[in-house]
Amino acid sequence: MSGRATGDADAVSAGRRRTVTVALSPPYDVVVGPGLLGEVATRVAEATVAVVSDDAVWALHGRRLAERLEAGGKRVAAVTFPPGEASKDLATLGRVLRALASAGLGRDGAVLALGGGVVGDLGGLAAATYLRGVALYQLPTSLLAMVDAAIGGKTGIDLPEGKNLVGAFWQPRAVLADVQTLATLSPRELRQGTAEVVKTGLIGDPGLVDEAERLLVPAAAGEGAAAVPPDELAEVVARAAAVKARVVAADPHEAGVRAHLNLGHTLAHALEAASGLALGHGDAVLYGLVYAAALGRARGLTDQVERLAGIVERLRPDPLPDLPFEALVPYMRRDKKARAGRLRFVLLAEPGRPVVVDDVGEDELRSAWRALEELVR
Ligand code: GLY
Repeated sequence: MSGRATGDADAVSAGRRRTVTVALSPPYDVVVGPGLLGEVATRVAEATVAVVSDDAVWALHGRRLAERLEAGGKRVAAVTFPPGEASKDLATLGRVLRALASAGLGRDGAVLALGGGVVGDLGGLAAATYLRGVALYQLPTSLLAMVDAAIGGKTGIDLPEGKNLVGAFWQPRAVLADVQTLATLSPRELRQGTAEVVKTGLIGDPGLVDEAERLLVPAAAGEGAAAVPPDELAEVVARAAAVKARVVAADPHEAGVRAHLNLGHTLAHALEAASGLALGHGDAVLYGLVYAAALGRARGLTDQVERLAGIVERLRPDPLPDLPFEALVPYMRRDKKARAGRLRFVLLAEPGRPVVVDDVGEDELRSAWRALEELVR
């Protein structure tokens, strides 16, 4: 469907819509385009909705969305919490669930998760568990959520014992990604999503890496998303969403190929955990991608090291934590892909063709760490 200027400010800003279908049962659409938040009232079937958001996103986009929903004839409740990973906890989940109950949301109602990854994960888990499950719509407002977290039904919260230890697979009815919301992201936030777009291109659409370099890297390096023509931004987001949708449809419960989405994430999770979550997830993934590329190059697989190191140099992520290799190994061994004590890594046979290997020795791990340190320090 394409937007038409009708004199309404929201409609004027609406551009072309791109739709990617996640072929699960039932299937659902990821719709991408500028100005999409102005269409939520018509794209959500349920008459009663609860907007779940964080305080920052609520102030930027939530209040206006709620007004539009009400103008569209919906009964609207709202529940918000402070932004940041610290809100992905049992106490906040409890508050959200109680707010849904006191708003009287019924089985015929819907949760609208408006925000980045934290909101999508927490709001998604609330939708999965409230009344044993109500309809969920993901309304991602960060690049990372648009291309990754909002698609595929992973919901969850953290425990003091670890990240994402409680959760459920709960697929949304739709993902509505309004790329206009990206204009309010800081370069740092854009960089976190750019890392996931690069990863997504590497595993499933090599041309997307070129597009990420052309459009997203300059935006994340300082120009901001507002400098990218909205239609081109939507195209990049939709291309990344298409790869994610394909992988999720092939393996909704992460029994096989969904692990490919973990390219670069074995080291990334170890860096995040060992540095006490000081490093942004995307920044950690950038280092993890170079690391996986170094492991692959040493095995005679495709050599993407220089290219990825060049992207890292342009993006200027937070510094690689000053940790000895030995501090990272225990965290890598705790990786969810490990089986029977053996580390499993996603590597690239060539761009667009990931492989999972389970015979990486400690010497290889150490050499790749040295290579990474030499390249990025
Ligand atoms: N973010 C990885 C996944 O959805 O499987």
